[in-house]
Formats: sequence, C-alpha cells, structure tokens
Amino acid sequence: MTPTITPTTEAPTKDYRAPLRFWHWGNSLLVSLQLITILFQEVIVDARSAGPEFQETMAKENIALTVKQARSLTHILSERIWEWHIYFGWAMAAFFVFRVGQELRGPSEMRFSARLMEVARRYRLAPATGKREAGKLLFAKGTYALFYAFLTVMVISGLLLIYRNDADFLRSIKHEVEEVHNFTMYLILGFFVVHVVAVVWAELTKDHGVISRMVGGEARKR
Ligand code: HEM
Repeated sequence: MTPTITPTTEAPTKDYRAPLRFWHWGNSLLVSLQLITILFQEVIVDARSAGPEFQETMAKENIALTVKQARSLTHILSERIWEWHIYFGWAMAAFFVFRVGQELRGPSEMRFSARLMEVARRYRLAPATGKREAGKLLFAKGTYALFYAFLTVMVISGLLLIYRNDADFLRSIKHEVEEVHNFTMYLILGFFVVHVVAVVWAELTKDHGVISRMVGGEARKR
C-alpha cells in the first residue's frame, strides 16, 4: 500500500488554539495598559510640569514652596503611575515567559517559528502566479517576528529598569537602558497601528473571519 503523505502546505498557520488566543488578548491588553500609563505619565498628568501649579496654589495659602519641595510633591504623582506601570510590567513578563514556554514545548500549532518556516517554504515553492499572495503572508509573519523581538527588548529592559539602582553595573547602564526602553515603545506603537489596520483590511477583503478565529478559534474553512 502506498503511504499517504499529508502535504505540509496544509500546516495550520492560521489555527489559533485557546492558549495562543489567551496569550494574544492578554498581551494586547497589557501592552495597551502600558501605553495608557505612559499617556497619563507624559500627557494627561504630566507631573513634571505641575510644579509651578503646586507653588501657585500653595502661595494662595501663604505657603512658599521651593522648586525642590514642589518637585518632591509632583514626584508622588508620577511614582503612583510608575507603580502601575511596574505591576503591568510584571504581568507582561509573566505572559512573555508563558509564550516562550509555548514556543519551546507546545505543539506546532502554537510555535511561531514553525509557522514562519512554513510560510517561508510556501513562498519558496509558490508558482509565479501565487508568489505575490505567498509574499504577503510571509511579510505579515515577518512583522510578527519583529514584534516578538520588540517584546523581548521591552521585557528585558523593563526588568533591568526595575533593578537599575540595585547594582553598580545596572546603575552604569541605566541611561542607555532607559533610551532603549523608550525607543522600543515607538516601534511597538508602529507595529500596533500596522497590525490593526492590516487585520481589519484582511477581514474586510479576502480573509473573512480572521478576527473571529482569534476570538473563538474556529478552524479555517479551506
Ligand atoms: C509595551 C510595553 C511598555 C511600554 C510602552 C513602556 C514604556 C515605558 C516608557 C516610555 C518609559 C519611560 C522610559 C524613560 O525613562 O525614558 C518606561 C519606564 C519604565 N518601564 Fe516600561 N514600558 C513597557 C513595558 C515594560 C515592562 C514589561 C516593564 C517591566 C518588566 C517595564 C518597566 C519599566 C520601568 C521600571 C520603568 C522606569 C519607571 C521609573 O522611572 O520609575 N516597562 N516604560
């Protein structure tokens, strides 16, 4: 009897299992919450610029606050926001470890590396007429690879920032780590925008159901 070989082109590159969906939405929520803490820190509360307002308000009560005293009060506000940033940061780190666990031990449906290799293979083998479509899929997966890299940098730099005053070495690289952490935020923001636009576009054009698959996980109809 001739053995049946399942064509690898059927590998489930779009099958979103429950643990993967849990990670996807949990991580999206945490990234959004982190961005919101920064929005509060830098724009809505902007504690650094509130010093003169504190001084003016206290002056009305005949209390003269020095710049340093005003700063130590505004510092309380920004510290409160950073505390939340760090709680969410720990949660992000836990989600990151969970995802690395899926990648190392999970079945191929949950391994990003397997999916990436599969779409790269499909691209290589695609006939001239299908090259464009296969290329788009490969590009999409490439952006996810970048996102995982940004996430890795964000979690590692965030953890280094938590302990930045606890060791001489960490103190010495603190400024660079802050810069990296700050810059990576813009890369993550960029990915976020491109990702949402691309998914909505796919949903509305040829990949109907991609969003509900990531919510409910139904298998893709071929
Ligand atoms: C997408 C997720 C994240 C965004 C957008 C984000 C953004 C930022 C930004 C813009 C800063 C200011 C950096 C500077 O001083 O120039 C910051 C500081 C910080 N971040 Fe994040 N971050 C994220 C994830 C994390 C994670 C995962 C952790 C920890 C595991 C973390 C821990 C910290 C700490 C400790 C600080 C310093 C807070 C302070 O000054 O007291 N962040 N973050």
